[in-house]
Amino acid sequence: MRLDLGLFVYLMINFIYFAPQFLQTSMILVRTVTELKSVLQSSGQAGSAGFVPTMGALHRGHLSLVEKAVDENPLVVVSIFVNPTQFNDPKDLERYPRTLESDLKLLESTGCQVVFAPDVTEIYPEPDTRKFDFGQLDKVMEGKHRPGHFNGVAQVVSKLFEMVQPQKAYFGLKDFQQLAIIKSMVKQLNLPVEIIPCPIVREQSGLAMSSRNELLSAEERTNAATISQTLFKAKELRTEKSVSELEKWVTETINKNPFLKVEYAEIVDDTLLQPVKSWHDHSVKVLCVAVFCGKIRLIDNIVFN
Ligand code: PAF
Repeated sequence: MRLDLGLFVYLMINFIYFAPQFLQTSMILVRTVTELKSVLQSSGQAGSAGFVPTMGALHRGHLSLVEKAVDENPLVVVSIFVNPTQFNDPKDLERYPRTLESDLKLLESTGCQVVFAPDVTEIYPEPDTRKFDFGQLDKVMEGKHRPGHFNGVAQVVSKLFEMVQPQKAYFGLKDFQQLAIIKSMVKQLNLPVEIIPCPIVREQSGLAMSSRNELLSAEERTNAATISQTLFKAKELRTEKSVSELEKWVTETINKNPFLKVEYAEIVDDTLLQPVKSWHDHSVKVLCVAVFCGKIRLIDNIVFN
C-alpha cells in the first residue's frame, strides 16, 4: 500500500503533538530519597525537572502551579510534605489538613509524572540546626508574627531542591514574603534553580485559595471573603488616602466583620518588603494582610502598580 505524503506528514504531526500527552499519563508516587533519585535518573531528566513543593491538601491554586510546570518542563515533580520546622504553633501543625489520597487523584489529571511524599524522618534524619540570615526580609509581617517560620521554610525548601535538583520551581504569590525569602535563599546558596512566581488563585467569592480554607466553617468561609473584598476596594481608594490612612482603613473595615480579626495590614515595597511611608517613592507597593477567622489564620495581598 502506498502512503500518500500528505497523509504521512499529517500522521507524524499528530504523533509529535499527542505522544507526549500519552507518555505523561502515568504518575509515580515515591516515598524515599533513594526512590526519587532512581526515578529521576531513569527518566533521563535528572537536573532539568520542574518542581512544585507543597504541603498537600491541594486546591486549584496548587493545581495551577502544577499545570504551569507541566506546560514548561518535560518532567514535573510535586512534593507533598507537611514540614514541622516551619510551624511555630504546634496546634497549627496538628490540625493542618492531610489528604494524600485525594491529592494524588487531583494530581493525576495534571500530567505531573512524579509525586514525592516523604516521611519526616526521610527529610530530617537528624534535626536541622541551620540558621539562615535573611536580614530585614524576615523581620516584618509573617517573619515578625511567626518567629522561626521562614527559617523552617528555607530548611525544607533547600533540602527538597537538593533532592529534586530542579531547573525551575513554582511558588504562589499568595505567600508573597515566602517567595522573597526563597529567592534570597537561592541567591545565598548559589542554587541553579529559577524561581517562577505564579498568580493568586481565588475562590468565586474572592477568598484567596488556601489549604487552611478547608478548616473554616461554612459561615466563616463566607465571611472570610471580606478580606479580599477589602483589599480590592483599598486598591481603588489609594488615590484618596495616605499610606497610613489606608492601612488603618483596611484594618477597621476587616475588623468590622465580627468573624475576623486583623493581625497586621501593611503596605510594603515588593522587593525588600519594608514598610512604605509615602505613595511617592518609586517602589512597587504591596498591601499584605494576616487575619484570624475564628482560630484559622489567613493571609492575602494585593499588588499596587
Ligand atoms: O508554601 C508552602 O506550601 C510551604 O511553605 C512550602 C513551600 C511547600 C514549604 O514547606
